[in-house]
Amino acid sequence: MKERENFGSRFAVIMAFAGSAIGLGNIWRFPYMVGENGGAAFIIIYLLSSFFLSLPIFLSESVIGRRSHSNTFGAMEMLAPGTKWKWLGLLTVVSPLVILSFYSVVGGWSLVYLFKACSTGFTDSSMEEVSKVFGNVISSVWPPLIFHTLFLLICAVIIFFGVKSGIEKFSKITMPLLFVLIVLIMIYSVNLPGAGAGVTYLVKPDFSKITASVVAAAVGQSFFSLSLGVGTILTYSSYVRKDENILVSGIGTASLDLLFAILAGFAIMPAVFAAGIKPEAGPGLIFQTLPYIFSKMGEHLPVLSASVAVLFFITILVAALTSAISMFEVGVAYLVEERKFSRPAATAVVFSLTWVLGIFCSLSFGPLKNFHIFGNTIFSFCDKLTSNFLMTFGGLLFTIFVGWKMPRRDVRDEITSGGRSSLGVHTFNFVYFLIKYLAPAAIVLIFISNLIL
Ligand code: PHE
Repeated sequence: MKERENFGSRFAVIMAFAGSAIGLGNIWRFPYMVGENGGAAFIIIYLLSSFFLSLPIFLSESVIGRRSHSNTFGAMEMLAPGTKWKWLGLLTVVSPLVILSFYSVVGGWSLVYLFKACSTGFTDSSMEEVSKVFGNVISSVWPPLIFHTLFLLICAVIIFFGVKSGIEKFSKITMPLLFVLIVLIMIYSVNLPGAGAGVTYLVKPDFSKITASVVAAAVGQSFFSLSLGVGTILTYSSYVRKDENILVSGIGTASLDLLFAILAGFAIMPAVFAAGIKPEAGPGLIFQTLPYIFSKMGEHLPVLSASVAVLFFITILVAALTSAISMFEVGVAYLVEERKFSRPAATAVVFSLTWVLGIFCSLSFGPLKNFHIFGNTIFSFCDKLTSNFLMTFGGLLFTIFVGWKMPRRDVRDEITSGGRSSLGVHTFNFVYFLIKYLAPAAIVLIFISNLIL
């Protein structure tokens, strides 16, 4: 049998994980979630949740993935043979495909805007016009479909090249670049006239804004942002070598993801306020705010503005791609290892399934906009199904599996990398407590509040 691939170094591991974590969740979703949920107070809960809830789930997936060196289904079969846990393995083969199908539609929008930035640039002088253009882009039939297809094709090519020459190489080159780009954009944004109000919005918490639904949204955002509960972290961890410290890579990834979300917040919110847009504008926020800012700046500084516009949409695109490939890989790993597909055939199957579902998501802004599932369009149904339920549910089951099903010494063995890392007893006990008790209990509470809301 062909030997299973592994990531080559600690840097590669963290870049691949960070590539999965940092994506549209940070640049597109985080700013409008902050906007819809009251600004700085939301961010504080998001920070707490990232370390106390998301990190334990991240570690649980890492423990399972690295212990089994297998895809999600194979991992469950190996660690709990012949039990119902295999259904968790199967569920997490399906859920990333659902995310990928709507994610790729938004990835497609960023390609549309990148092409626009490179060709005509942005010249609409009023907010109404900008919003109208965005509305026309997403509700038309062909451009979003063509770019959704293109986006998925790029993912397929990277995945086709495999773990080392595809995922690892792409992430190692693009992730550092992404940080440079977002810092440049942030500097530009906070210097816009009228940007100050946006900065205040991000740093001054109004605790009266915290409600159960804000807490649920903040926790949901932190799960989405760290790619949790859908088997991507498990699958990537299965490519991590035994001597790699998964606690360090987990903390490193969570910190980079947080840092990037905050940088993206400071790159986008000041621009939102400078443009005089309401921060609660929803999913279209960045696609409306930024073109408006670029066109305003373009009146005085055309070259600078055009270059920032191109940089910005490249940033979104690259961030989206490194996340999308992590969702793609889950299905491919399953098909190759469990169903004995060749890698190219598995890539083609995952491509086709997500492509078709993505077509429906895309059309749900246009011809299918009146088709509703439980009161949601197809796009928002897929979004809510995954971020409010499948991710939380998957995350819960992963922590229960590691906390209650796996022998404690196996968990310790993984977290200390077979005793290679000198982790104090108290630190391990604390981490184990988070995995076994705190995270599952908190997730159950949030799950119930999501159901009620
Ligand atoms: N974490 C990614 C983002 O922030 C989204 C994602 C979710 C990726 C689930 C993989 C799995 O954009």
